[in-house]
Amino acid sequence: MKNIDSNSHVRGLSVYLDDIPLVYGTLFACVYDSPIAHGKLKSIDTNEAAASEGVVRVITAEDLIGENQIGGIVPDEPLLADGEVHFAGQPIAIVVAESEQLARKAAKKIKVEIEPLEVVTDPRVAAANERLIVPPKKFVLGDTESAFKNCEHIFEGRTEQNGQEHLYIETQGAYAVPTENGGLRIFSSTQGPTAVQRAVCRVTGLPMHKVEVDVQRLGGGFGGKEDQANAWAGICAVACQITMRPVKYALHRMEDMRMTGKRHPYSSDYKIGLDKNLKIVAYEASFYQNAGAACDLSPPVLERTLFHCTNSYYIPNVTATAYCCRTNLPPNTAFRGFGGPQGMFVIECAIAHAADKLGVSATEIQRRNLLVDGNEFPYGQLAESEAETSWAQADEKYDLTTLQREADEFNTTSKYFKKGVATMPVCFGISFTKTPMNQARSLVHVYTDGSVAVSTGAVEMGQGVNTKMAQVAAKMFGLEIGAVKVHTTNTLRIANTSPTAASAAADLNGKATQLACETIRDRLFEVAKDLVEAASVNDLSLQDGFVYRNGDKTSLGWQTLVMEAHLQRVNLSEHSHYATPGICFDWTTAKGHPFAYHVYGTAFVGVTVDCLRGRYEIEYVKCCHDFGSSMNTAVDLGQIEGGIVQGIGWVTMEEVVYDADGRLRSNALSTYKVPDIYSVPKEIAVEPLATDRSNLAIFNSKAVGEPPLMYGIGAYFAIRNAIKAFVDCTPPFDLPFTPEKVLMQLYGNAGQ
Ligand code: MTE
Ligand code: HPA
Ligand code: MOS
Repeated sequence: MKNIDSNSHVRGLSVYLDDIPLVYGTLFACVYDSPIAHGKLKSIDTNEAAASEGVVRVITAEDLIGENQIGGIVPDEPLLADGEVHFAGQPIAIVVAESEQLARKAAKKIKVEIEPLEVVTDPRVAAANERLIVPPKKFVLGDTESAFKNCEHIFEGRTEQNGQEHLYIETQGAYAVPTENGGLRIFSSTQGPTAVQRAVCRVTGLPMHKVEVDVQRLGGGFGGKEDQANAWAGICAVACQITMRPVKYALHRMEDMRMTGKRHPYSSDYKIGLDKNLKIVAYEASFYQNAGAACDLSPPVLERTLFHCTNSYYIPNVTATAYCCRTNLPPNTAFRGFGGPQGMFVIECAIAHAADKLGVSATEIQRRNLLVDGNEFPYGQLAESEAETSWAQADEKYDLTTLQREADEFNTTSKYFKKGVATMPVCFGISFTKTPMNQARSLVHVYTDGSVAVSTGAVEMGQGVNTKMAQVAAKMFGLEIGAVKVHTTNTLRIANTSPTAASAAADLNGKATQLACETIRDRLFEVAKDLVEAASVNDLSLQDGFVYRNGDKTSLGWQTLVMEAHLQRVNLSEHSHYATPGICFDWTTAKGHPFAYHVYGTAFVGVTVDCLRGRYEIEYVKCCHDFGSSMNTAVDLGQIEGGIVQGIGWVTMEEVVYDADGRLRSNALSTYKVPDIYSVPKEIAVEPLATDRSNLAIFNSKAVGEPPLMYGIGAYFAIRNAIKAFVDCTPPFDLPFTPEKVLMQLYGNAGQ
């Protein structure tokens, strides 16, 4: 089934923040942001800007009525800089004017005096200076120290990983409209309506019941709007509160790139120990996370790096330590995978390192160490593993030996083009690692004409969650999907939402919707029982718009039943709550059962490198992926393809560059390369894993949003293998593997 939005998307009829009709008298905000990365804010001169054409007000920190703070986990992020600036791009003042152009023109007239302070951009330097945002986090399984003593082979190394720009097509933005008695209605492009509501309340001093947040859909979020939509909503809210007029701010692309955080870059150390059978016996890793200038979501991202630091492998002795390092970059944030990809990359590097040194293929080491049922993860949960089954099924379907042989044969005859193949297994835990976040609510109304309205806490951002919510209700009531309308995500209808994140939105909100529909259905069955003279409600079901009794269609149609129930004064609405059962995690012991389940898969990635020019093409990504039983294969295949391409982009071409002064150099699409249609793999093949194990997913359909991104990591290792076929070398583990870096590897690391 198609995504229910596809029709309106292609006709340009879907509504995003910028399409919301503006209320008469709307003003436009624009931010003046810090030109330098660290310094003492000596003075702000707003006089010229305030006198500029069309300007209604210029707002600085001292004008705020509420608290100048939006830091959710650690209160270290002022809405507007006060006293100091901590990153280039940090908002200092808000200009509010009659038009967008006039606001931007006036913002240029603001003058600040900033006394520069030392700029730190390197997480290891930050750690050495004790600039940690939270204390280090650690996972321990077994005893690495004694295990290393018995290892046949030990290898140590270092990896560097870059950031990644979210590049959602719709930039960040918000629109605040005053409501009666000092309330606010906020339209926001956010994954977290409640996060926006909290931030707005904090900076305006309003109680939560006076602030309504409404989200129609996002033109992409990818994690970038889990926390970082808050600032823009806060800015509009403050400006609205002070001017008492509606205020809108939709960021320009370069403002967005400059002012918002990205995927966290990491610098990491590893030590891996193997026995003579290539079993990994011990693994130590230290992760230095470049958190940027404020906490944002860095600690939970860092935690997920630890949760996924052994990927799909069972390693009996693990010590993994992670440092959340404060630097003078824009605060880095959630990005598809949420730290998981960073953890997985390091273990894959350690395995590749061992393979290089031992003269075996990395694939051989990977295969011998896959998780099996009952294996313990470093965090205490026991695996229900599909690592071996997905590997075996991928191998059966795509035949890794033949793929490798074809590449080898090609390489013996081709001088300047070389092929490389790599395997990338993935094991990704589903649930927010912070247990209390794993809850959701859904409000279902059945109207007297039989049509159904659903509101949940899930935010549609292109991933198709609204289609899945409509499918849940349609299935529960035995209706066509057209009978169901999924409405905006709104904090008045659904309160205290968790953000749409962690790939868990369909599960959490789908289960809540299922419960709500079940309750309404049971009430309807009580009414139907008499109408169709059934012995018991248990004999009844709903299909194709009719009531069925013992599997046989009756003449009682859905609409008639609904109307009859209404006349009998039966409640046709329900608001249900779902909380994932059986999950827990205790940070005092760093053990627990944090995930409802894991998603597994295995991908084979093939590339061709042009060894004269350093360019490469991704030939194929062939994976066997664990969907559970997909609710919507069209949507899920789109998620897999999109995730893979985004993952490949991260490890190959996307290069976020800050200079030593902390200024973003890759600040536009002319200097930041994202995958386009020419750089996607020539083939993406997806084989559904055959498994009927039950799990906690909605209708047994496993979460699909993030896990496929990590197949993309295989592209890095495939390129590396191709290079090694051209020249005897051991390329450093340094992402992204841009064509420039490939070329330097091919020709003796020119420039060093
Ligand atoms: N797909 C599209 N088209 N746009 C997005 O912004 N975000 C990803 C993923 N797929 C995203 C996407 C991220 S980071 C997450 S966590 C999940 O979707 C969230 O949605 P879900 O929980 O419904 O899978
Ligand atoms: N994943 C994504 N977003 C989150 C998480 C998580 O585990 N925890 C808090 N926000
Ligand atoms: Mo996704 S990074 O959990 O929004």
